[in-house]
Amino acid sequence: MGAQAQHRPRRVRRDARRPRREVRRGRDRGRRLRRVLLVHGAGRDRARTPRRPGLRRVHLGAGHHGQDRGAGGGRPRPAAHRHRPSARVADRRSPRRACRGRERPDPRAGGPVIAAGAYERVAIVTGGGQGLGRAYAARLAGAGARVAVVDVDGDAARSAAEAIAADAGADRVSAHEADVTDEDQVGAFVGAVAERWGRVDALVNNAGGALLPSAPFDSFSRADWTRVLEVNLTGQWLCATAVVPHMRAAGHGKIVNVSSTMVSKGLPVGLAPYVAAKAGVVGLTRALARELGPDGIRVNAIAPGYIPVETRKTVHTPQAAQALRERMKAEQCLPVVGVPDDLCGAVEFLCSPASDFITGQIVNVDGGWAHG
Ligand SMILES: NC(=O)c1ccc[n+]([C@@H]2O[C@H](COP(=O)([O-])OP(=O)(O)OC[C@H]3O[C@@H](n4cnc5c(N)ncnc54)[C@H](O)[C@@H]3O)[C@@H](O)[C@H]2O)c1
Repeated sequence: MGAQAQHRPRRVRRDARRPRREVRRGRDRGRRLRRVLLVHGAGRDRARTPRRPGLRRVHLGAGHHGQDRGAGGGRPRPAAHRHRPSARVADRRSPRRACRGRERPDPRAGGPVIAAGAYERVAIVTGGGQGLGRAYAARLAGAGARVAVVDVDGDAARSAAEAIAADAGADRVSAHEADVTDEDQVGAFVGAVAERWGRVDALVNNAGGALLPSAPFDSFSRADWTRVLEVNLTGQWLCATAVVPHMRAAGHGKIVNVSSTMVSKGLPVGLAPYVAAKAGVVGLTRALARELGPDGIRVNAIAPGYIPVETRKTVHTPQAAQALRERMKAEQCLPVVGVPDDLCGAVEFLCSPASDFITGQIVNVDGGWAHG
């Protein structure tokens, strides 16, 4: 015991390892810091902060509301605290990005995407001419965004845009006839939106649907299978590909993909191509979130439950639709039939700065059907 104590190395005071001057400087800084009052948010908070002698104010950025938000996108931070890619992270950049000769932008640097009533940000909603997409477009316009309604059905897109314009104003909405599976048409509407409003802040990848009558999995033709995947999955990839350069340039962006709660259980039987495509959307969402996070682009998906929309005629017979509605209602945690408005809150949230720390997520908006 005594011998052990003898051989125990003497504890060296931490400070003793540093030169004296450095130790003193550290202590002085500690004292100085204790005298500093950190005030988050200018204006609003400043007015409320009591003045106390000996306290210095340090403003870390603007408040959560208003147009003078700092570069922190709703989370004011001192510049020194913001994430900077380390040398090792920078080395892992793809050659394409590395050779651009500039550092990655700070993922938080772009500020908010859509803040209710305060910002003039720009959102694209595909399949916005009718059904759920039309509801999303109206909600985002109501939240203060400029909205581009895209649909393969040009009349539907124009009619939705007119209805939105009646509330929000004609300068806040545009209509585009385009097929999301056609690369040129996608490039054209994204280009037109960027030219008109100078930016693309959010994309709601909504165009799609089961498209074909419910049938056994092995009865679909190859062409039918491919078409369902093209519209529901490839179209989302094409639209993301077209908007990302604009978002990268701005250092921020929000992509909201539309999957389906059906993916979690493979139901209803008879929609194999659709369920497969919407499961692909889950993978696409996670992959893009990983790849685009360093550029400040958030990618999430919603997985809606069964929401009867007036325009859906092709997939289920009226009797089958009624049976599905009742079955879903009985199996949900919430025994109610969903309406388009039930999804709009999630879409608005995922396009807003309130969700800035959320990416790669699949949000089931289904009354608790999938995981209830
Ligand atoms: N309604 C539901 O119960 C439900 C549930 C889960 C997921 N979803 C998904 O939500 C989205 C909207 O569904 P909905 O019920 O409103 O359907 P809907 O058929 O009423 O609307 C879909 C819209 O997309 C447009 N569209 C179709 N193909 C297109 C293409 N190639 N290019 C551009 N536009 C195209 C259509 O013209 C239509 O306006 C779809 O992706 C659908 O799979 C719907």
